[in-house]
Amino acid sequence: MSDAAGFLAGGAVVITGAGSGIGRATARVCAREGAALVLGDIDPALARESADAILEGGGRAVPIAGDVAEAETHAALADACLAEFGKLSGWVNNAAFAGGSALTDTDDEAWQRVQAVTLGGTFRGCRSALAHMRTQGGGAIVNIASGAGLGAEPGLSAYGAAKAGVIALTRSAAVEYAAEGIRVNCLAPGPIDTPGLAGWVEAFPGGRPAFEAQIPQRRLGRPEEMAETIAFLLSGRASYINGAVLVADGGIHARLASPRPPETSD
Ligand SMILES: NC(=O)c1ccc[n+]([C@@H]2O[C@H](COP(=O)([O-])OP(=O)(O)OC[C@H]3O[C@@H](n4cnc5c(N)ncnc54)[C@H](O)[C@@H]3O)[C@@H](O)[C@H]2O)c1
Repeated sequence: MSDAAGFLAGGAVVITGAGSGIGRATARVCAREGAALVLGDIDPALARESADAILEGGGRAVPIAGDVAEAETHAALADACLAEFGKLSGWVNNAAFAGGSALTDTDDEAWQRVQAVTLGGTFRGCRSALAHMRTQGGGAIVNIASGAGLGAEPGLSAYGAAKAGVIALTRSAAVEYAAEGIRVNCLAPGPIDTPGLAGWVEAFPGGRPAFEAQIPQRRLGRPEEMAETIAFLLSGRASYINGAVLVADGGIHARLASPRPPETSD
């Protein structure tokens, strides 16, 4: 397997958290680009729905139910990919759990669950993917970080710490396995219009219009926009991009966080 052949078109890609939002959109775009897919989700019905949609569109997809906090889930994802498609060329660590409480209200159990799913799930996914990609002579991994891993957001200390860990893990994996033809990158999305974000936006004072007014591009991102970026990072078009943190947030992170009057948002 080589970059020239690409890890997307004609490849086989595992996507975790593929039953909703960014993961489901990524499945659609990767299928359109010619990849066979293993679609993981903790919710078996959602995994099945995503796989059915790909099959109905003429693509190839297998649903696998499981919690990314468990090593067995990653073994099942990899085994299904090799058994169904005979190869494993790409892996997207997308599943996460945000939790959401002030630091002093976060008990050990909540902290550990966020780390186990969001950082631990990405670690186990990378370990599983790398083991197979090394024997195949190459591959591409995309981890999903977050703007919350780059800057602080009140109520997201556990999630932010886990996502900062995802960024560090991405860089470590990229450097450790680059010489073996494996690329590991991460995408740091800003606020994306998915079921996962809906409650957060609804709870915002002034609701969605007030939330969007503070984004330089004046709108939430779309899951498809993240999916296109993930597909790019998996593909041969990104053949010299390794260990990168690609920020896709409508300009939020680029803006200086200086005080500004409420009626003007930038
Ligand atoms: N939506 C955003 O604004 C946003 C912003 C930054 C980063 N992200 C990141 O993007 C990724 C996808 O987010 P989304 O908004 O599409 O989420 P979502 O809630 O719409 O979908 C997440 C999917 O993951 C599955 N899942 C949850 N816990 C799991 C577990 N333990 N094991 C396996 N599957 C599990 C859910 O069932 C669901 O189908 C996450 O890593 C998230 O942290 C999202």
